[in-house]
Amino acid sequence: MRIILHIWRQRNATEPGRMVRYEAADVNEHMSFLEMLDVVNEGLIAKGEEPVAFDHDCREGICGMCGCMVNGVAHGPLPGTTLCQLHMRHFKDGDELYLEPWRAKAFPVVKDLVVDRSAFDRLIAAGGFVSVSTGSAPDGNAVLVSKEKADGAMDAAACIGCGACVAMCPNASASLFMGAKISHLGLLPQGQPERSQRVEAMVAQAGAEMFGSCTNIGECEAVCPKGIKLDVIARMNGDFLRASWVSRSTVKAEA
Ligand code: SF4
Ligand code: FES
Repeated sequence: MRIILHIWRQRNATEPGRMVRYEAADVNEHMSFLEMLDVVNEGLIAKGEEPVAFDHDCREGICGMCGCMVNGVAHGPLPGTTLCQLHMRHFKDGDELYLEPWRAKAFPVVKDLVVDRSAFDRLIAAGGFVSVSTGSAPDGNAVLVSKEKADGAMDAAACIGCGACVAMCPNASASLFMGAKISHLGLLPQGQPERSQRVEAMVAQAGAEMFGSCTNIGECEAVCPKGIKLDVIARMNGDFLRASWVSRSTVKAEA
């Protein structure tokens, strides 16, 4: 089939970008979206033109590297699917697709469809970890965790850090991502000692990175390829309120 592409081309972080029209002829319906871009790039290279830069790594939906806006939707039109797992059979002959990078102040464009998501790394470094020694693998039932909590932690841990939630949010909020990290650690016993410190540090870092605030619009949940639910944001907000209250009480007691 034949697909018309309008792709954001931007040489570097400082130069202005623009949409450029390309025609992808002979697109096979079994190609993944990234394979289709590979073929477009082979054509550009053959003509001596600069190939389109786009992020990717695993190409099997688990690393979080890929992603761009396809007709205004992060990762494209198929729910619960990363761009690398989106196949061309979900489009039809003659479709016109507009590809743009994630748009968020905290994710500056590096080149074409590639953005710098190191703000996510700094959020994790601020508090998205446990520093207690967890030792070697314990006996299965040595630390009791209820089924409900184990399932909740596992579901939250499915977040791959792709950034689609930020890109789709009109506020460019990182709340779904942070909520996922805070939930997967905060639901388990090993995450308890630093639970308050973690949420306070991550929320402060999100402000410093210029991520917006969550206003419960839900676009993040709708495009998340890993099905992370808004519940994680509610848990993060609960943890934050509790942590702020404890900090305030401690300051009063010390005064
Ligand atoms: S919460 Fe979902 S959309 Fe956001 S970074 Fe994680 S996997 Fe991607
Ligand atoms: S390339 Fe790894 S999730 Fe798409």
